[in-house]
Order: sequence, then C-alpha cells, then structure tokens
Amino acid sequence: MNDSNVGEVVVDGEQIRDRIAELGRRITEDYAGDPPLLVGVLKGAFMFMADLARSIHLPVEFDFMAVASYGSATRTSGVVRIVKDLDLDLTGRHVLLVEDIVDSGLTLSFLRKNLQARGPESLEVCALLLREGLQKADPDLKYVGFTIPPDFVIGYGLDVAERYRNLGYVARYDGPRDLG
Ligand code: IMP
Ligand code: MG
Repeated sequence: MNDSNVGEVVVDGEQIRDRIAELGRRITEDYAGDPPLLVGVLKGAFMFMADLARSIHLPVEFDFMAVASYGSATRTSGVVRIVKDLDLDLTGRHVLLVEDIVDSGLTLSFLRKNLQARGPESLEVCALLLREGLQKADPDLKYVGFTIPPDFVIGYGLDVAERYRNLGYVARYDGPRDLG
C-alpha cells in the first residue's frame, strides 16, 4: 500500500492463512461433538473471525458484540463499555470468544467476567495477536495466532481511527499517534 503510515509487515497474509488453518484444525478437534458458539468482538475481529470460521469444520454458530474503551486512538484506558450486546443466550453454550489483539488484557478481562456471568457451559478465548509482555495478569488464552512485539499494528481488522482494517496482513503503524 502506498501509504507512509503503513510500516514493516509484522505478519504477512500467507502466515495468517497457515496459522488459521492450524488453529481451525485444533478447534475442530477440541470441539468435536460440542460445536462452539463463536463470539466475535467487533470491529477488530471481523476478518479473523470470518477466516477462522471457514477453517472450523463443525456446525458453529455466530454472534457478535462491540465494546468501546475510553482512551486515545492507540491506548486502552481499561474502562470498557458494551456498545452492541449479543443477540443469543449463552446459557449452557460452549463459547469461543474471538479477539483481534490482547494488549494490556483489560478488555479481555472485562469481557471474560461479563460473559462468564451469563452461564456458558465453557468459555475459551482465541486471539489473533498477543502483544508480548504487557499484560498485568496471565490472559489465559487457549488459542493464539501470533505473539508480536510492542509496536502498535494495523491491518487484517485492526485500525487506527477506523482506517487500515482492510489490509490483508498485519503491519507496524508508523503514523501519528493521536489520529482522529
Ligand atoms: P487491551 O484492553 O489493552 O488488551 O486492548 C485491546 C483492544 O485494543 C483490542 O481489542 C484492539 O481493539 C485495541 N488495540 C490494542 N492494540 C492494538 C493495535 O496494535 N492496533 C489496533 N488496535 C489495538
Ligand atoms: Mg480497536
């Protein structure tokens, strides 16, 4: 992409495809007989969720929620609120939460508590990206695509001020820090 804000590629499209195929195989095995309800966290996880679901060979169901965290464009404050809630009841369901990236882990810890309170039979997390070493507590992720260095990244669902989500790869963001 001819855009100087798009930096070095961190995970390319082929690496993403290969890793998703592997995650899909594992999820297909782990949930054989108990197809999961995939819960995608909008908007960042939309592309990952679509590709991951196609590599899971089970009759999965889908739901989505959207959260917003107060903070600057490139930092989470930890104060999270639900902007769009799930449509489905989680009671007795095997829920697999699909996240784009776990950074501080604050968003995930909010979501985990919130979803756990709805009485699912099981609750596990699949995150495309885990930022190395920044979590205060162990994020306890059952499935992780890639562990990445501290730099802010864009692409494959991840944005800065709603841009760059459509890149087919994950790249370092080299632009100004407080866009939008
Ligand atoms: P956490 O609460 O600090 O773990 O932040 C998680 C959320 O912040 C993710 O779901 C993303 O929406 C956003 N986020 C964190 N790091 C990045 C990044 O490098 N690029 C784009 N969004 C990010
Ligand atoms: Mg975001």
